Amino acid sequence: MLAVKTEGLTRKFDGFTAVNALSFEVGEGEIFGLLGPNGAGKTTTVRMLSCIISPTSGMATVAGHDIRSDPTGVRRSVGILTENPSLYERLTALENLEFFAQAYGIKESRQRAERIRELLEFFRLWDRKDDKVTVFSKGMKQKLAIARALVHNPPVLFLDEPTAGLDPEAAKLIRDMVTEMSGKERRTILICTHRLEDAERVCTKVMIIKRGAGVVIGSPDELRLRMAGRPRIEVRVKGDGESFADLVRRIPSVIGVDVINGRILVTSKNPEEAAPEVVRALVNGGAMVLSVNETLPSLEEAYLRLIKEDA
Ligand SMILES: Nc1ncnc2c1ncn2[C@@H]1O[C@H](COP(=O)(O)OP(=O)(O)O)[C@@H](O)[C@H]1O
Ligand SMILES: [Mg+2]
Repeated sequence: MLAVKTEGLTRKFDGFTAVNALSFEVGEGEIFGLLGPNGAGKTTTVRMLSCIISPTSGMATVAGHDIRSDPTGVRRSVGILTENPSLYERLTALENLEFFAQAYGIKESRQRAERIRELLEFFRLWDRKDDKVTVFSKGMKQKLAIARALVHNPPVLFLDEPTAGLDPEAAKLIRDMVTEMSGKERRTILICTHRLEDAERVCTKVMIIKRGAGVVIGSPDELRLRMAGRPRIEVRVKGDGESFADLVRRIPSVIGVDVINGRILVTSKNPEEAAPEVVRALVNGGAMVLSVNETLPSLEEAYLRLIKEDA
């Protein structure tokens, strides 16, 4: 059974289409990334999938439950970390989870206590269980908020921007915990993020969305291959590359020239043919060429280019 399946999922706000005919499938146990810039429609998608708002058109099932006809089944099957999770700052970590475990209808107190202990231990918060949330760091709060989303042990977990606002170290810790969580249990995790790093490091499959529509979908490796684009010539010259860049810009077969860290990066219609021309132009212009390489742009550059296009 698929954990999530959407077909033509669409949401309009007045005349504005926030999510535009989105179709994708998430297999059980997968860590699926919805990657896209701010305003791409990630949060709106997750809100539809967790029955917080209804779609304008299209359909979706979550853990086999139809979001239109079986919202109760959906809510029971999903845990959600929202963009701005609110915890009770004046309650302790334990009290927070106790509150939500009761709210989720875990009736037996021993069962609640066991589940809460399991979660606090997993998120390395057990020794801080009696501290009030107000003294927690941002990263600790985020871990507790994820634990809260898991109190009822849902098969599907939605994490909306789980690393937003965290320093690099705390963000890495969250990514590691997500990976560990998915490895240990066969929980399906859908992560919304605008950080390529999150998607690249933790997701088994990624869909890049832009203005509400899916642009590409695949494993991080597949995306790297498909989005990397044209190889480029990278030339290192003695001195400042920028002062020689114009010589290269004048070559007809050259499409683009960037200077990054003093290196001249040349995109051309055919790098193999262009390389000798580039070197000749540089040498004739008085540059001392130190090295010439062919490189592929990183996934990050490709992603940035993709989301910048006609933005
Ligand atoms: N309740 C709403 N009313 C009107 N517009 C909304 C509403 N929620 C989201 N939008 C718009 O829909 C687009 C997608 O928003 P969102 O799903 O929050 O994007 P993301 O999570 O990818 O940053 C944005 O342009 C946003 O302003
Ligand atoms: Mg969002």
